[in-house]
Amino acid sequence: MSITVERPEGAAKTAVYAGLGSQLRGLLEGERDPLANTANAAALLFAVLPGLNWAGFYFLRGGQLVVGPFQGRPACVRIDLGRGVCGKAATARHTLVVADVHAFDDHIACDAASNSEIVVPLVVGGHLVGVLDLDSPLRGRFDEADAAGLEALAQLLAEGCDWHLAGIDGF
Ligand code: SME
Repeated sequence: MSITVERPEGAAKTAVYAGLGSQLRGLLEGERDPLANTANAAALLFAVLPGLNWAGFYFLRGGQLVVGPFQGRPACVRIDLGRGVCGKAATARHTLVVADVHAFDDHIACDAASNSEIVVPLVVGGHLVGVLDLDSPLRGRFDEADAAGLEALAQLLAEGCDWHLAGIDGF
């Protein structure tokens, strides 16, 4: 069965992320609780970006990535640093775009429907806080425009929350 989803490309995609930035700024206004803000951010991304089956956060707690606010099916709760797409992006502290998760060595399958994935590390003042993770049933769903757009949103969140409220390692 093929899935047909409208997918903005190029400049249209950049415009979508600009709109998401405005909406996220609005959600963060007057609120610095990281759980509240990442919960609303996950809901915003899942509602606005087409072709997703999971959008959410893992936080660095007790030396592992522990699942945080998300939208989608229940997911793996704990991921070791260096394992899976999430753990590798967290350790490397750079965004990983995976066009085909089945071709990615060590991918952790939480939902069999996922075919592509992007993971953006959340770094605050040089400290790793966690990762933002999006999954899609579409192969090759994410590209460099998604990476740039999501990195900008991750930066808004990094600066817009008081991370010591979330039990994150090092805070
Ligand atoms: N696929 C991820 C695990 C998290 S779920 O996608 C929500 C990984 O390989 O790290």
